[in-house]
Formats: sequence, C-alpha cells, structure tokens
Amino acid sequence: MNILVKFTIPFLAIMVSCDSSKNDALVKGTNEHLTAVTSAIDDQVLANAKNDSKNWLSYGLNYSENRFSQLEEVSEGNVDKLGLLWSYDLNSIRGVEATPVVVDGIMYVTAPWSIVHAIDTRTGKQIWTYDPMVPRETGIKACCDVVNRGVALYKGKIFFASLDGRLISLDAATGTKVWEQVTLDTTKNYTITGAPRVFKGKVIIGNGGAEYGVRGYITAYDAESGAQVWRWYSVPGNPDEAYEQPELEMAAETWDPSGKYWELGGGGTMWDAMAYDPELNLMYVGVGNGSPWNRRLRSPGGGDNLFLSSIVALDPDDGRYKWHYQETPGDHWDYTATQSLILADLEIEGSKRKVIMQAPKNGFFFVVDRTNGEFISAQNFVDVNWASGYDDKGRPMELEAAEYKSAAYEAIPGPNGAHNWHPMSYNPNTGLVYIPAQGIPVVFEDDPNWVANSRASGGFMSGTGWNTGALGSAVPPQSPIFGHLLAWDPVKQKAAWKVEHIGPWNGGTLSTAGNLVFQGSADGRFVAYNATNGNKLWEVPVGTGVVAAPVTYLVDGRQYVSIAAGWGGSYGMSAHHTESQSPGKIYTFSLGGKTPMPELEIPEPKPIVSGIAYDPKDIGAGTKLYISHCIMCHGVPAVGNGGNIPNLGYADKNKIENLKTFVLTDALKELGMPNFSSKLTEDDLTKIQAFIQGTADAVSSQIAASR
Ligand code: HEC
Repeated sequence: MNILVKFTIPFLAIMVSCDSSKNDALVKGTNEHLTAVTSAIDDQVLANAKNDSKNWLSYGLNYSENRFSQLEEVSEGNVDKLGLLWSYDLNSIRGVEATPVVVDGIMYVTAPWSIVHAIDTRTGKQIWTYDPMVPRETGIKACCDVVNRGVALYKGKIFFASLDGRLISLDAATGTKVWEQVTLDTTKNYTITGAPRVFKGKVIIGNGGAEYGVRGYITAYDAESGAQVWRWYSVPGNPDEAYEQPELEMAAETWDPSGKYWELGGGGTMWDAMAYDPELNLMYVGVGNGSPWNRRLRSPGGGDNLFLSSIVALDPDDGRYKWHYQETPGDHWDYTATQSLILADLEIEGSKRKVIMQAPKNGFFFVVDRTNGEFISAQNFVDVNWASGYDDKGRPMELEAAEYKSAAYEAIPGPNGAHNWHPMSYNPNTGLVYIPAQGIPVVFEDDPNWVANSRASGGFMSGTGWNTGALGSAVPPQSPIFGHLLAWDPVKQKAAWKVEHIGPWNGGTLSTAGNLVFQGSADGRFVAYNATNGNKLWEVPVGTGVVAAPVTYLVDGRQYVSIAAGWGGSYGMSAHHTESQSPGKIYTFSLGGKTPMPELEIPEPKPIVSGIAYDPKDIGAGTKLYISHCIMCHGVPAVGNGGNIPNLGYADKNKIENLKTFVLTDALKELGMPNFSSKLTEDDLTKIQAFIQGTADAVSSQIAASR
C-alpha cells in the first residue's frame, strides 16, 4: 500500500461519500474499504436513496420502501442474457426470508437462527459471519419458522435482531459486536424475525408472538450507544395501572375489560413493516393481529380493539402517536396489518396525494393519506368472504357468517393472509404495485373448551403454546388454494395483470427501471417478468422454493441482481413444491455471467411408513394431539413430499416406533425439535403414533386405489 493511501485512510473514513469512485484508492474488500464505505451511510445518504439506486442500503431499498430500483442496465431487452456470477451457501435448510443490504459491493444478509453473513459480491466469498447463538429451544416460540428478514446499516455499524429478542450492533468491517440489548421480557413468548430500521440515528425494532399471548410494542435505541430512547405500545395494558401513552386511554375505550385482555396479552405485535417520510417527520408501522385470535374471548362486548390491524404514524424522535387508520376493526381472523408499507405520491381524482399503500392479510388494497391517516380507498385484490367492502369512511362492511359464532366458517383469506410478509414493490413508471398474492383458506370454529393461557383447548398448535381460541376444523376448506403475482393499479384500484403460480407462498418482488419485475417462486424458480404486461422474460431453477425478495445494485459500474433462496416460513415448513431440496443459498447474476448453476439436490423419494402396529381407537385422540403439537412443523403425514422439516409419514419405521427418543428428550434440540417431556406422556405418543400410521395407511390405500 503506498504511503499516501495509508495516510489518507483515516480521513477518507470520515470524509468519504457514498460515491464509490472516491474510494478507488482503497483496496476493495479490505477492512479500511469496509469501514470507509459503511461509515458514509448517514441520514442524508439514506434519505437520498430514493434518488440513487447504486446501493441497496436498507430493507425496502429506501425510506419509502418501494423496492423500485432506478438501475436499467438490465432491461426487458437483454434480461435473457442474465447469467450466474456466484452462489453462496448459507449452510441451512430452514426458511430464508432476508433482503440483503449492499453497499459498494459488500453484502450483509441474515440466515436462519439469525446468523449474519458479510459477503464480497465481487468474488462471492465470505468476509465474516456472526452467530448470536440463539438457544435452539427458542424455536418453539416462533409461530413461523426460525427466520430472519435482515439487517440495517448506519454509520459503519450493522444492526440486526436475534430470534430470542436481542438487538445487536456489529462493526460492519469486522463483524465484532459493539453492543447488545435485550428488547423483550424473555419470560414471555416473544420472538423477533423482522429487520430493524434506522430513522434519525435511532434503531427501531418490533417483535412477534401474538399467537402466544403477548402485548405488542416497538422500541427505539440510540444507534451509537444502544440506550433505549422510546417505546410505543400498540394495545392498552391493565386499566387499573397508569397508561404508558395518552392515546392508550382512547384505545382502552374500544376494548371490553371483562375479557381481561391485558392478562391475555391482547396482541398487536409489530413484527415487520415500517416506512419513514423525512419531510413530514413521520414514521409508519403496521400493527398485527389480536391475541387470542377469537375477539369474543379477549373483548366479549365487542369493540374495535385499537390499535390492532392498523397503520400507525409516530414521531420518530420521541415515539409519540400522530394518527392511525384501522383496517380490520376488532380483528377476529389473524388479519395483521404488518405487511409491506409503501409511500408514494399519486394523482387521485385530479389532485396529488401523499399516500401510504398496503395489501395486508385481510385481502383489501388500501390507499391512505399519509399526512393525516385519512382513508382514500380500499378494494379487494383477491376473493374475500369476511366483508362486502369498505364504506366512504373507511370501515369494512363485515359479513355475519365471518363471526364463526354458531357454525364453522371458512375464512377467505385464511390466517396466512391474502398477502403476507413477502415484500411487494411499486414502480412509479408503470404505476403498478407488484403483490405476491395468495389464497390459503382455513376453516374456523369457536373453541368451546377454551381456557385462558392454557394448552387445554387443543386448537391450532395449542400444545406448543399457541393461544388462538379458534379451532382449525377437521373439515377441509372448499375454496381454492392459489398463489399469483398480481400487478395492481392503486389509483384505479384494479388488477392490471396476473401470473398464476403452482401454489401460494411465493417470493417478494423487485421492480426496476428496466421495466422488469423479479420474483422467486415456491416451486424453486427465479423469474423476470415484463413490468407492463407480465410476460415471462427469463428464469433459472434455484433448487429450493424462494420466499424472500430479490435486490439489485451496482458493483464497479455493473448491475448485479441477487436473491436469497431457502424455502420455509409458516407455510413452507411442512410442504415443498420442489423436487430439489437444496440448502439456503444466495445467487448473484449479471449480464453475461457464465458460472454454471449449482447442481440441484434431489433426494431419493422415501417410501410411506408401513407396518407399525396400532389400535385404531387411538386415532381420534392422536389426531387432536398431532394437530395441537406437531402439524405446524411436520405437516400432514404422507401428504406432499415433506418440507424442510421431515414429513413423519415418510420417516423410518423404527423412528416412529421410538417416538419418545425424539419427542421426550433433547436429542434433536440443536436442530430445532422441541423437547415435549413436560407436555406429553408416553401414552400420548402411542396415540400420535396411531395417527401417523393410520394416516399413512389411508394415503397408501388411496394411492393403490387410484392405480
Ligand atoms: C417447532 C417445530 C417442531 C415441532 C412443533 C415438532 N417438531 Fe419434530 N422435528 C423438528 C425439527 C426441526 C426436526 C429435525 C429435522 C432435521 O432432521 O433436520 C424434527 C425431527 C423430528 C423427528 C425425527 C424425524 C426423522 O426422520 O429423523 C421426529 C420423529 C419428530 N420430530 C417427531 C415430532 C412429533 C411427534 C411432534 C409433535 C409431538 C413434533 N416432532 C413436533 C421440529 C418440530
């Protein structure tokens, strides 16, 4: 290194702007280079990200979270020349939901169990990794896999949250820990899977757990010191105690205290979306579902149960409440409003409106004035059967059957949502929002035996601590299960085009100025579409289902496109749509890339388990035990080819005969299999065994009959 370069490094670290041409003197990939380029990411650079797509600096690309890149080297005319540069193994078989953050070719991405990887995109080689050593027993507190959606980058530090609820700051150059804060009451069933955001020097993080009886809040920490700056609760606590915030008094008016909702938690966890408008000095956050799901149990006299299923605007400086718009008053169906929030300026009926847009789980697309929370419009983007529409004031017209009071009710959309966390994107040139839309109906029934905070009721996964107060009925749903890529016009509130996928749970989307939409699919493809009409222009197989969203950025003047592939998440844990079951990987492409794609890893098909003796009388009790303790992770025995957690209908006979060695011990703890010794007896396992073998036999004879 020449003497001048050595001398200038400390100054560069302070002075360098985000423009990579200014650090050409630094050797790319060295610690000095990493420190210089990451230290330059400050409030101004982040605010300017909406005009400059060279890097991918935050979860949603910019404060508006529109995931629209202005890069156009890769375009509809040449995307068929896109080829692989490198792939990087994340060493995991669980769900990969992360959006990578990239600055001057240095990528920061998270893998299952909240492990952070820093990768040099020029070579595809690892720079460092950081493993927060999440205790594996945390896995059972996570409704929806041991996933993590990514990091935030600010002034030379990386911020991410671990599944067990720690917010951690790392030196971006070395991966060395700077500070760590426990953000949760660890005696409760909270977890964190979301990516933090940094607004005005504060690192903001929410949490999840509304299936498990918790009370939602988000917290801001000082990026420099890690000290807590403010905390905002989304639902009121005990009305006999002082409310933490003045608006909680108003919120409490909308809950019936006879439900003792504060003992049940109430829910309202803010586990994913945020956005920020620096001009209005407002940050926005999406609030989750009620806990328990069944509103009769948490608020017997009804009420809107604020601020469940709402978009809320806060002052990022002190966390003070500014306005809210509630999408699903008195949520009764797990209809979170935590899905992507996108800020845009739209021309609506002749006037320019500053709007915030969301396509939440409840199946309606919302356009709301982001200056004051005024409702502009809502239209269903998939079939729905819980409401007939929204009135002029922005209230849903709810349908009575959706109460599931006296009869079972097939919820459309079901609790996985018409759109879940899989990020949507907005292209201001086409004026379209690209939504990974889906349908996964579930039949709800009131749970007559519900007991507050107990496992006795036997509903969805109650054996693992879920407290929904609603039973997933044994009656199979009648409406279609589907997934599609939907291009939606937010002004006209109607679909422009859609592409049908093999099933639900497809990847998030990326829009680019090259008139492209990129999306990975549940059946293991990474695809580019024409943004105007949805024509498929390019695709490659990536060996595993994709749920995360792609990113694009410039490296030494060339446009790269990357996707983190790895099937999983709530729907992905128990059923694959791909024959190949490759581990989680990052793939990076550019025009003319010539690296061969890695070989697909196609496991030998396993035979359906057979020959285990059981008493058919045990099947009924076994079914209940299996649904409440095992189904979410292991799926229905012998139905589908299994997910990234094995389907027990294809397990070795001796494993099912010796269930207790897996289920009542710590044997598979490190892989994420809970120890049920305090919850299940050997007698229970005999019944579960009867259910597994009974179901496997039924499936085998169906297959034989169809031959
Ligand atoms: C929170 C998710 C989760 C739940 C709930 C769960 N398991 Fe597991 N289970 C796992 C994981 C993860 C593995 C290890 C997968 C691997 O081999 O990588 C596993 C492995 C197993 C195995 C070994 C399978 C094999 O082929 O090696 C058996 C048997 C098993 N589980 C039974 C059960 C039963 C019975 C229940 C319900 C009482 C249950 N599990 C509930 C996550 C779960």
